[in-house]
Amino acid sequence: MYRTHTCGELRLTDINKEVSLAGWVQTVRKFGSITFVDLRDRYGITQLLFSETLNAALDANPLGREYVLQVTGKVNERSSKNANIPTGEIEIVVSEFKILNKSAVPPFTIQDDTDGGDDIRMKYRFLDLRRNAVKKNLELRYQVNRSARNYLHENNFMDIETPFLIKSTPEGARDFVVPSRMNPGQFYALPQSPQTFKQLLMVSGYDRYYQVVKCFRDEDLRADRQPEFTQIDCEMAFVEQDDIINMFEGLVKRILKDVKGIDYTETLERMTWEDAMFTYGNDKPDIRFDMKVCNLQFPSHLFIGKEPEVSRELLSIPPLGGWGAETILAIAVPGCSEYSRKQTDELTEWVKRPQIGMKGLVFIKCNTDGTFKSSVDKFYTEDKLKAIAAAANANAGDLILILAGTEERTRKAISALRMEMAERLGMRKPDEFKLLWVIDFPLFEFALEDQDGGGAGRWVARHHPFTSPKPSDVDIMINNSPKVEDLDKYLEHPYANIKANAYDMVLNGNEVGGGSIRIYQRDLQEKMFAALGMDAEEQQHKFGFLLGAFEYGAPPHGGIAFGFDRLCAIIGGNETIRDFIAFPKNNAGRDVMLDAPSGIADKQFDELQIRLDLKG
Ligand code: AMO
Repeated sequence: MYRTHTCGELRLTDINKEVSLAGWVQTVRKFGSITFVDLRDRYGITQLLFSETLNAALDANPLGREYVLQVTGKVNERSSKNANIPTGEIEIVVSEFKILNKSAVPPFTIQDDTDGGDDIRMKYRFLDLRRNAVKKNLELRYQVNRSARNYLHENNFMDIETPFLIKSTPEGARDFVVPSRMNPGQFYALPQSPQTFKQLLMVSGYDRYYQVVKCFRDEDLRADRQPEFTQIDCEMAFVEQDDIINMFEGLVKRILKDVKGIDYTETLERMTWEDAMFTYGNDKPDIRFDMKVCNLQFPSHLFIGKEPEVSRELLSIPPLGGWGAETILAIAVPGCSEYSRKQTDELTEWVKRPQIGMKGLVFIKCNTDGTFKSSVDKFYTEDKLKAIAAAANANAGDLILILAGTEERTRKAISALRMEMAERLGMRKPDEFKLLWVIDFPLFEFALEDQDGGGAGRWVARHHPFTSPKPSDVDIMINNSPKVEDLDKYLEHPYANIKANAYDMVLNGNEVGGGSIRIYQRDLQEKMFAALGMDAEEQQHKFGFLLGAFEYGAPPHGGIAFGFDRLCAIIGGNETIRDFIAFPKNNAGRDVMLDAPSGIADKQFDELQIRLDLKG
């Protein structure tokens, strides 16, 4: 037997017990004739005391960092206790030890504050995983996984695996493809999600399905994206949107309870996509704090009936007019009216960065004495500033920040600025959780530029092509041709107003899940594919299996998929999903530990009957 206990287990109540431990050497400290060793395993750290009698043995078998060591000895009360660790009141007086394996000197220290940079820790990920900081994230991931599985099991969901070597499933990214040796010249695609399979399972009668499943998407990476990531993928038959929303609101609440001990009792707000865009500038608002966007000017066709609060004359006033502003948006940042020139200059530079892309920033300081000071005092009277401050719901002490430019870019910029200011002011607390449903998304998006090889100037599915239109909008889809005559006026096409039966779950400003009620009738699905520019032949080639299945008694159904890695990261108080994945890829999509992707042997090409001839 290698061990009787773990390194995190022994306490004062175990004094005088004879025990055996096994683990890794964290540190070796020699004090005269005695040696202290911290022994670490998954469960904690225990101090070992090697007395004088073992000196000769230690000299013959010196210990080094990360050596694998087995010891036997007696539990002893420590004279100098360490209150920072649970085992800090005891130590093991070693009577026998055995080096089970040696270790090379690790390339970085295996401790919370490591000296290893990102790259080296990724290369030696198996060592990084020994560190507490990473281990605690993986433990949290496991807890979220268990909690979700328990909830779904209790609610009659069945875990069913679906294949990885499949035909393309459109989720808006590029596919990873795998050549088939047995079918030369043909390729499988790795699933971007199990979307069509879970729908087929509904046709098969498995009315509550789930899977914690890998998905593969070849897209540009960010902190919250990996090329292979995990979803908690779910589907239900005989449901409407409310059924799904209630079931999965319950799932996330259960996870928060099990993993964080949080009783999230309030019913989640359901915000329409339009309201989210109008009030926060994006469709995944962080509602832990207020700082709503004030729409001073915007192209009204997008938000019919929500007229600007402050008149269009703002446009005629430089510099806003000079920025070609079709949209003018503002936020009132609480308590920042005393920002210095240096601070406002720095913010101006911040919004001018290419990622934000604004031409500049106008600010108004709402001083606590009721006066106003702005970057455009030359052009605005005090009364005008007061009117803008009122429109922006600003209070004395606030700093109003105003951005102007084209609609989409300005909304993106103001929401990024809102998040940035909240971050700077400590309003985005990692241990505070605020959930939200965003509903009523548009069914289509218009691709002015080519998005995925299908050409420019056409409608694409905002979620995916299996999402149903709102029942009230079905006729608009059926009775109108998708053709857009004047590309500049695509927003006036009836398709621009069709709403989807789709919903996203947002947690602290992150989209953690998304789903929809599906189309389940063949003719409507065909109509949808046609709207996306697929002729009958292409429909049959790509989705004949699904269209065919819909002819054999497909029940009404819908579902959702949670980004499991994202959910874990946010619950863990972090937005970098890499930290919550045992073996992640870096930002270039590489596994630097394996050095993958890499070339393959000529023999493999021969077997696949493929010749490599890279273009460019
Ligand atoms: P969707 O594409 O919205 O929906 O994906 C669901 C959730 O998966 C997460 N996610 C990602 N996480 C990490 N890295 C990525 N590259 C990545 N891409 C997406 C997000 C997202 O909310 N089949 C549909 C679901 C359905 O309709 O039921 C789907 O995949 O958190």
